[in-house]
Amino acid sequence: MADDRSEGIARETFSNFDQISQYVDILRNRGIAWGLIGPRETDRLWDRHVLNSVAMADLIPEGSTLVDVGSGAGLPGVPLAIGRPDLRVTLLEPLLRRFNFLTQAVEELGLAERISVVRARAEDHDGRFDVVTARAVAPLPRLLTWCLPLMAGNGELLALKGSSAAGEIDQASSMLAKRRLSAEVLSVRAHPQAEATQVVRVRSAR
Ligand SMILES: C[S@@+](CC[C@H](N)C(=O)[O-])C[C@H]1O[C@@H](n2cnc3c(N)ncnc32)[C@H](O)[C@@H]1O
Repeated sequence: MADDRSEGIARETFSNFDQISQYVDILRNRGIAWGLIGPRETDRLWDRHVLNSVAMADLIPEGSTLVDVGSGAGLPGVPLAIGRPDLRVTLLEPLLRRFNFLTQAVEELGLAERISVVRARAEDHDGRFDVVTARAVAPLPRLLTWCLPLMAGNGELLALKGSSAAGEIDQASSMLAKRRLSAEVLSVRAHPQAEATQVVRVRSAR
């Protein structure tokens, strides 16, 4: 989808459009200059990054604490925090340059009270969260190993997976059964006119 059309959809999706627009400017400028975003992404920032990130927003319970594992340039954690002011968000990122980028961006966006940036690998972090998100970080079996310890008792993992979702659940089936977890593929979109994508939701079997 053309990015100006996606920007128009984002205008209808975000009540605080100026803030998400400022974040897109940061991605377009420092994100590309620092090598966190590929130069070819310039024309796809709204669609492939912002709208894709908030496609899962309706799955997140009101007032949740959320950790975005392997946040990179802040995706999906920053768009989710901007779109959902009720959330408290931790961006977990082990690489120094990305951590510095995130710290600076969060400060400039005026979000430091609601977004913490932590430099760590998921498997070394010992917090507990209502929701764990991850996009483009690792295949589901490895992601589960890293993320299950981060999930609070009733917590859930939301992994943005696109078309590989069902296959990744198959790959993780023995681990899911052993830990009494249920996994499902949900088709989600940020707005009725936005592209749909697939999220794997993992939580305790009820
Ligand atoms: C392909 S990038 C994806 C970044 C972002 N989530 C996105 O969708 O644009 C993968 C990110 O995962 C981070 N990462 C790799 N291993 C990790 C681990 N064990 N714990 C947390 N993050 C990790 C990398 O540093 C990198 O920023």
